[in-house]
Amino acid sequence: MHVAMIGTGYVGLVSGACFSEFGTDVICVDKDVSKIERLEQGIMPIYEPGLDVLVENNVKAGRLHFTTDLKKGVKDADVVFIAVGTPTRRGDGHADLSYVYAAAEEIAEAMDGFTVIVTKSTVPVGTGREVERIIRAKRPDAEFAVVSNPEFLREGSAIGDFMRPDRVVIGTSNERARAVMSDLYRPLYLIETPIVFTTRETSEMIKYAANTFLAAKITFINEIADLCEKVGADVHDVARGIGLDGRIGKKFLHPGPGYGGSCFPKDTLALVRTAQEHNSPLRIIETVVAVNDSRKKAMADRIIAACGGSVEGKTIGILGLAFKPNTDDMRDSPSLDVVPALVAAGANVRAYDPEAMEEAAKLLDGLTFCEGAFETIEGADAMVILTEWNEFRGLNLKRVKAALKSPVVVDLRNVYEPREMKENGFEYSCIGRGTIGGN
Ligand code: UDX
Repeated sequence: MHVAMIGTGYVGLVSGACFSEFGTDVICVDKDVSKIERLEQGIMPIYEPGLDVLVENNVKAGRLHFTTDLKKGVKDADVVFIAVGTPTRRGDGHADLSYVYAAAEEIAEAMDGFTVIVTKSTVPVGTGREVERIIRAKRPDAEFAVVSNPEFLREGSAIGDFMRPDRVVIGTSNERARAVMSDLYRPLYLIETPIVFTTRETSEMIKYAANTFLAAKITFINEIADLCEKVGADVHDVARGIGLDGRIGKKFLHPGPGYGGSCFPKDTLALVRTAQEHNSPLRIIETVVAVNDSRKKAMADRIIAACGGSVEGKTIGILGLAFKPNTDDMRDSPSLDVVPALVAAGANVRAYDPEAMEEAAKLLDGLTFCEGAFETIEGADAMVILTEWNEFRGLNLKRVKAALKSPVVVDLRNVYEPREMKENGFEYSCIGRGTIGGN
């Protein structure tokens, strides 16, 4: 079995490397010459734990290859994955499918023999049909099938998610393609991974429904957290108390500064637009989008309030800039709202992130990047935890206290225990852990 992976972004590169780890011959294709050159030298374009070793081992074993030549990659492939970007289109919030369709055109010219073309990028319902139309128009007699196979991996734990998924979803009504896809995912049968075979449209819908549901779950607990603060309840116990109900489930009930990243913001918006166009509005998701946007903006106000109502001339030490730990991804990160708002309010912002500072420097102005947590908070009027990297979870509190000019800690990821922080003399604020009464 030969696989060609078009696009070496997060999904493409991780999926390609993981398929090769399963023993499949994989060629990853990207137009970006320097990216491919760097990959050939073992330099990863993204930070993802374990990816460099996985790539190196499989390149050495002769199973993983890189090229800028799409035709060469596709010619011998039995399965061609389209894993190119689908960013939000400017102006209307729709997914921009121009890269997907351009890839389809090129694949059509290059494919040889029965080929299964798989959309792995998150694409709106109906995209598979359009990809098929494009290829059929170019190659009326070719034998091929267009399949939907969405990817559910999370950044930061992408390899584990790919190797041990909760499920694999495959959308096709073509029996030959179904057999090829079954074969490709055979290694997962060993660990009894459920494989959901369905139609292409349903498969495309599953991906959006999953991501929008999870975004709604996070937004729900965030609003419950705000209410907990007002009524003196603890959102962590609420999350545990409801999450133990199997119908609700305990995951994705951690409150925070609002979801970010490459998927949830883009996919919620895209599904809202699709729904509006079909005159079947998703009012819950429309609200989720609006609530999450305003939440990210409101985080700066929380910090300002914790600093006594003004940050003018004050120094704020921010720990974490990436949208989540174990990634250098800054896309739609809450820090992109928080930092400019603090700078605009006259704060002197210092920040540190273990991996995302290079990316952050391209997107944020007016702040000072530091080398580590303690350098960031030295002499600061407040310490703010914006991303829950492990190295911020067990900071020596005595040292933190000594470093800060005033003992204000704003923990937007609820990493620390309110009681312990108070006992250590901090003015500590977090999310949704109300202290009224405290009984
Ligand atoms: C997500 C989906 O989980 C994944 O299945 C899909 O393929 C891509 O989108 P990812 O964006 O990598 O993955 O990260 P995820 O861990 O899901 O977190 C997304 C955002 O939600 C982050 O900003 C995170 O901080 C936030 N989040 C997550 C919370 O605020 N609370 C939670 O309980 C969980």
